[in-house]
Parts: sequence; structure tokens; C-alpha cells
Amino acid sequence: MIDIKPMLQKDALINKTILITGGGSGLGKAMAKQFLNLGATLVIASRNLEKLQLAKEELEGQTGGKVYVFSCDVRDYNSVETMLDQAIETTGGIDVLVNNAAGNFISPTERLSANAFDTVVDIVLKGTSNCTLALGKRWIENKENNKNILNIVTTYSWTGSAYVVPSATAKAGVLAMTRSLAVEWAKYGIRSNAIAPGAFPTKGAIERLLPPQLQHLADMTKKIPLARVGKHEELGNLASYMVSDYASFLNGEVITLDGGEWLQGAGQFNFLREIPESLWDALEQSRKKK
Ligand code: HXC
Ligand code: NAP
Repeated sequence: MIDIKPMLQKDALINKTILITGGGSGLGKAMAKQFLNLGATLVIASRNLEKLQLAKEELEGQTGGKVYVFSCDVRDYNSVETMLDQAIETTGGIDVLVNNAAGNFISPTERLSANAFDTVVDIVLKGTSNCTLALGKRWIENKENNKNILNIVTTYSWTGSAYVVPSATAKAGVLAMTRSLAVEWAKYGIRSNAIAPGAFPTKGAIERLLPPQLQHLADMTKKIPLARVGKHEELGNLASYMVSDYASFLNGEVITLDGGEWLQGAGQFNFLREIPESLWDALEQSRKKK
């Protein structure tokens, strides 16, 4: 049993104001908690203001930190601009953008309507580009530097994945944006990085991607070499490091945090991990006899 302790010094994120889209639930809320514990001021934004309010109360109660909430639909550029106007006026400025908001569901692609496809691409890719562009323009215009963007992608950003094609298509775009802007905006003192989490169970993901009828198909102990799912604190530790000044030279990187899951699916002979020691013993004996 691993006890996950905070990784960085207590004041590692002091004087940083961090905006997390979709910060009212799941992994966004988990990262928010860890950032607050390290001294950051938080802005969380998504569509459901009631959910954000509840998250604010919970996070402030747990950490003693300050959380501001604003409703925003990241698909709509005007909504993003309005949210940024309010957030910047209230906090004095944003130092870090975490593009975490997402939409996703499983479906054979040929069953999707055009609107269904667009809905996911609009939240994931357009939502990320809207927030990045709107905030990046402000940082550049005001000659602010030492800013950074952290995009939450997935391991299927580069492998692709059947049955979540709109999400895979959009996350691949987000990864391309991460690497492109890492180069283009470095001259403005803006870093861009990404995390590709593996399985980190959240209500939002499990409800949509693993309904009860399918749960028998997804035995994580078999899919993941480390034979367990990720702990939210593990993601929070990595995210805290990546947005902090300790990572000032980290730019254009995507860090995978999946217990080895995607590589297990990729290696041609990885299926041999199913073989028990007794069968390896027998194979060795027969080789020696020969
Ligand atoms: C097929 C679906 C569908 C489904 C909705 N649609 N759900 N099609 N299968 N399960 C279709 C609808 O019929 C409609 O098309 C269109 O999509 C838009 O649906 P709305 O319900 O009107 O959309 P909206 O209210 O905007 O909600 C967006 C949403 C919803 C994506 C559909 O699930 C949502 O709000 N999700 C946010 C949270 C989320 O998804 N979290 C999971 C992230 S997990 P028509 O043609 O009928 O109008 C994640 C993990 C990745 O990303 C990696 C894991 C390892
Ligand atoms: P989640 O709890 O469902 O989070 C998604 C968040 O996005 C919600 O808070 C939602 O809030 C917000 N959102 C959705 N549509 C939005 C919109 N149009 N405008 C603004 N906000 C919107 O799911 P999660 O598992 O924590 O996922 C968080 C991130 O991790 C996503 O980028 C996901 O792709 C990634 N990820 C998760 C896993 C995993 O195992 N959980 C694995 C790989 C990657 P509202 O409903 O209030 O808008």
C-alpha cells in the first residue's frame, strides 16, 4: 500500500493564480485541492455553477485556500472572454491555465450523429483552443511572462482509440497544440505541457465510459502492468510540479501517468506476461534437454 504524500514544499505555488476548466469535479477538483495545499489561489470554471459552488465550499473547507468560481461554456469564445474578464478583475491576474474540461462517451462511430461528434470535439479541442487563445492573447498583450498552460490529454492522443473517436480526434489536436505553442510562445515566457493520465476513476468518466453492463470487460489488474488504477493525489503531484517554477525548463512535454497501460497494449510480445512461472520452467527444461 503506497501512502501518497504531497511532493513539493508547502509554498511551492504561492503567488500563483491557477484557472482550471472543469475544476468542479473529478480530476480537475483533485488537482485544485493539491494546488491549494501548496499555496495557490484557484479559479474553477465550467457550465454548472451550483456544482462549482459546492466544490468551492468543499475545497476551501479542506485547505483553507481561496477559490473563485465562474460559469463558462468553453465551447463559446464569448463565454470564455466574459469568464476571463471576471476572473482577472477579481484575482488580479491568472498565471496558469489548466485545460481539463472534457466531454466523452462510447459509441460505434457510425452510430453518431454529426452533432454528437461535434459536441465532443467542441468541448475538448475548441474548448482548449478558446481558453488558450483568449488568455494567451492577454498575457502577450500585457507583456506578462512566467505563465504556463497544462493540457489534460489521454494516451489515445497518439495511439487513437476505437469507440471514442471524437475524443481521440480532439485530444490528438490538443497534443499538437501543446507542442506547437511550446515553441511559438516560448519567446513570450509561456510554457505549454500536457499530462496523459491512464485510468483514474471519476464519476464523470465511469458513468459515460464504463456502464455497469460493460464493467466485466475492463479488469484493470489485467490491462495495467502495475495492476492498479491511479490515485488522484498522484496526478495532483505531477500537475503541481509541472505548473510550478520547479519545472521552468519543462516545455512541450507530455508526461504519461498510466502504470504502463498503453505500452502493454503496444509491445508485440507483452502477451507473454500471462505465462505462469511453471510454464517458463517447463520451457527452460525442454530447451536444456535439446
Ligand atoms: C451517442 C450521444 C451520447 C452517447 C450524447 N449524445 N450522449 N450520442 N452516445 N452516449 C449526442 C446527443 O444525442 C446529441 O446529438 C449530442 O450528442 C449532444 O448531446 P447533448 O446531451 O445535447 O450535449 P450536452 O448537454 O452539451 O452534453 C455534452 C455531453 C455530456 C458530452 C454529451 O456527456 C457531458 O456534459 N459531458 C461532460 C463530462 C464528461 O463527458 N466527462 C467524461 C470525461 S472522461 P443529437 O444529434 O441527438 O442532437 C474522459 C476520459 C478519457 O474524457 C480517457 C479515459 C481513459
Ligand atoms: P469529469 O469529472 O466529468 O470532468 C469533466 C469536467 O468538464 C466537468 O467538471 C464539467 O463540468 C466540465 N465541462 C464539460 N463540458 C464543459 C463545457 N462545455 N464548458 C466548461 N466545462 C465543461 O471527468 P474527469 O474524469 O475528471 O476528466 C477530467 C479530464 O481528465 C478530462 O480532460 C479527461 O479527458 C481527462 N482524462 C480522464 C481520465 C480518467 O480516467 N478519469 C483519463 C484520461 C484523461 P460542467 O458539467 O459543470 O460543465
